[in-house]
Amino acid sequence: MEGVGLMVSSFWKSKKVLITGHTGFKGSWLSLWLQHLGADVYGYSSSLPISVPNLYEIAQVSESMDSMYGDILDFGKLQSFIHRIQPDIIFHLAAQPLVRESYADPVGTFSTNVMGTVNLLEIARHVNSVRVVINVTTDKCYQNSGKSLQGFTEKNPLGGQDPYSASKACSELVTSAYEQSFYSHNGKLLSSVRAGNVIGGGDWAADRIIPDIIRSVINGEVMKIRYPHAVRPWQHVLDCLEGYLLLAQNMWRSGNDFTGAWNFGPGESSVLSVKNLIEQCNRHLGNRLKWICDSEIHLHEASRLVLNIDKATKLLQWEPQLNIHQTIEWTMDWYLGYMDKSLGHKTLQQIKDFEKIKAAKLPQLKEK
Ligand SMILES: NC(=O)c1ccc[n+]([C@@H]2O[C@H](COP(=O)([O-])OP(=O)(O)OC[C@H]3O[C@@H](n4cnc5c(N)ncnc54)[C@H](O)[C@@H]3O)[C@@H](O)[C@H]2O)c1
Repeated sequence: MEGVGLMVSSFWKSKKVLITGHTGFKGSWLSLWLQHLGADVYGYSSSLPISVPNLYEIAQVSESMDSMYGDILDFGKLQSFIHRIQPDIIFHLAAQPLVRESYADPVGTFSTNVMGTVNLLEIARHVNSVRVVINVTTDKCYQNSGKSLQGFTEKNPLGGQDPYSASKACSELVTSAYEQSFYSHNGKLLSSVRAGNVIGGGDWAADRIIPDIIRSVINGEVMKIRYPHAVRPWQHVLDCLEGYLLLAQNMWRSGNDFTGAWNFGPGESSVLSVKNLIEQCNRHLGNRLKWICDSEIHLHEASRLVLNIDKATKLLQWEPQLNIHQTIEWTMDWYLGYMDKSLGHKTLQQIKDFEKIKAAKLPQLKEK
């Protein structure tokens, strides 16, 4: 298994990679990173804009890739795009990703997150060029009593009390069924990846903690915190995406050894309460954020969510490169660069800095 944990740019050069949800937060970072690695990148997402502002436009993601704007539920449109581009590798990120929105629109959430996955997997299984498919779900796909102190392993039962979490658990079941019924019989490789709260520059989604902090600072508003004592794993988006890229590369090279479900969470020291995260962010922002705890009763959200990452650490030799302090610093640096244009735009620079940190660890990885 030599080189398991090393991302190899020669591997990605000229690979045809399709990303669904490429206009979103994670999709934009992933598209840029793959462009930087020399891949031919294609994207399929619902029509623009997703939010104003958005990373997709700020980082000019679309300029070096071929994009199609359509609904993941539009089987014919998705099918003709995939048939036209003949991708080698697919990352499926298109989803309704917000818990609160899933309470407002459960039908839309289940449709997009479950039937969207079915559509993608059904189309891809008939396309000869496709070798590797990775379905991006979430740490919320596990049955969660709020008491799992050791963290969820990939073998823990699926569940989900709110529509978003349940829809992603369903998407996991769909993935497993397609893997066992079809993909494993025709030489295609299918996995799912489960990550926690991913943070990083360029997220502008509604009801997410970092975008809420930045919006409050920009608008000079007092931020209301819903769950100050909720404990979450906070992970930089580049750490999470490196896991996806390493997994795809290893699936391609070693086949069935790497199919299945994978957790990609941060190290234990990156598990912090919402309140603690806000305080650390605020220090980087020069204490410009004013915030209070909101005493209103809110919709259910799991209060404790920790992932066990032993599988990825052992088999993929993947581990988070950024500790919680760097994760917060890089995230706040990105937004400070956005708010003060003279500091410069940081997306590609942070990708390169991340690669440098990893490269400095290469001798250790080769010895493993
Ligand atoms: N950001 C996180 O902290 C986090 C954590 C766990 C899992 N995830 C998962 O990662 C993936 C990406 O999340 P994100 O944070 O980048 O979300 P995002 O909202 O920024 O992006 C979602 C993307 O999906 C596309 N999309 C939504 N509905 C669609 C539809 N019906 N048809 C076609 N495209 C559609 C959007 O256009 C956008 O490109 C999602 O599957 C999400 O559930 C995210």
